[in-house]
Amino acid sequence: MVHRAAIVGAGHTRFGVLPEGPRALLGSAVRQALGSVDRAFEPSAVDRSYLASLGFGGWQIGNSSALLAEELGVPGLACVRVENACASGGFALHEAVHAIASGSADLVLVAGLEKMTDVSNARRRFWLGVSGDTEWERQAGLTFAGVYGLLASAYLDRYRLGREALAEVAVKNHENGALNPNAHFQKRIEREQALRSPRVADPLGLYDCCPVSDGAAAVLLASTETAKRYTDTPVYVDGIGAASDRLAVQERAELTGFEASRRAAETAFRSAGAERGSISFLEVHDCFTIAELLALEDLGFAGRGEAGALTLSGATRRDGRIPVNPDGGLKAKGHPIGATGVSQAYEVFHQLRGSAGPRQVPGARSALTHNVGGAGATCAVTIYSVG
Ligand code: COA
Repeated sequence: MVHRAAIVGAGHTRFGVLPEGPRALLGSAVRQALGSVDRAFEPSAVDRSYLASLGFGGWQIGNSSALLAEELGVPGLACVRVENACASGGFALHEAVHAIASGSADLVLVAGLEKMTDVSNARRRFWLGVSGDTEWERQAGLTFAGVYGLLASAYLDRYRLGREALAEVAVKNHENGALNPNAHFQKRIEREQALRSPRVADPLGLYDCCPVSDGAAAVLLASTETAKRYTDTPVYVDGIGAASDRLAVQERAELTGFEASRRAAETAFRSAGAERGSISFLEVHDCFTIAELLALEDLGFAGRGEAGALTLSGATRRDGRIPVNPDGGLKAKGHPIGATGVSQAYEVFHQLRGSAGPRQVPGARSALTHNVGGAGATCAVTIYSVG
């Protein structure tokens, strides 16, 4: 990259069933991001902005990126809305990092937003389905939990496994979420509770699913040269990769991994010049517990069929060899679709600066975020470090 990008500020609302509307959520995350910059900062210095959002639910505002300029207080700013389903945030970051790398922008605001709980259950089911194959799979009645249920069945069957590792992902992420004041669920659960929870889409139960959440997050990125004007501890973006796959799951070569995740990771590691062993912790897209196991394998942190054993060994806990989702992940922190990828960057910003509070991963110096769209049709992977 010609100019390296770095994060200099980050903001986050609470995730959950919230009374605020979309504009209030967005404004709150943006103000917090600006307020977190260490040295005096003029919003008018921002020269590009991206809003990640599916436009879910009752608000359905097209052209919504203009709201970002309003909330920032910079009329006339160039704003772009990025929509790649649940990976919208990761792809908005991808665009921002490349805008800075090319020299076409110097200070870029990226925000993610979703208001999901202001509609009826029937409408919610409609919106949850828009990111899959609407021509065949959705018409046939396949829900999102249904798609991941199919992937989980294929995985457990192929590697002759039970549901224990899936439950362990839920237990670990709820334990981490209990330490995160922004998390949708701040309660620990037991493995038996996860195993016995009502089935949603066999073999997935209630505790295998992320919840439906409202929320927003924002990060401020600058070129390295500019970043140093605002802080002594910028969080550097060392590498970023993005990829896609067939939208319809039925047209994929396999059900036990995501090719888009593998390709995005390969590009991210190559552009960062980093090795897996140098990464301190991972933020992965665990929309359903099976997705965390697939991510560990697709990203190259576990062999094929071995992510379950790795998880059960405790290696992915906050004090383990390779901590995964110290913020509670989508499972416990929540998953307001457009906000999720940006929220992962917020977590990295605080972890790498040592300001993550009780959920701090000790000695974290580098991190990887993995943000998946739908059932693996798009994926963005980012690698970060602190100087
Ligand atoms: N994990 C744990 N508890 C959950 C939960 C989840 N994912 N979702 C809901 N709950 C809890 C609620 O807090 C509530 O608890 P309470 O009775 O103590 O207040 C109870 O379960 C019922 O909540 P409700 O909202 O009525 O549940 P629901 O049956 O309408 O929805 C799911 C449950 C799993 C179907 C829903 O959360 C869902 O669709 N999740 C997946 C979202 C999704 O697909 N996102 C896109 C991913 S790619």
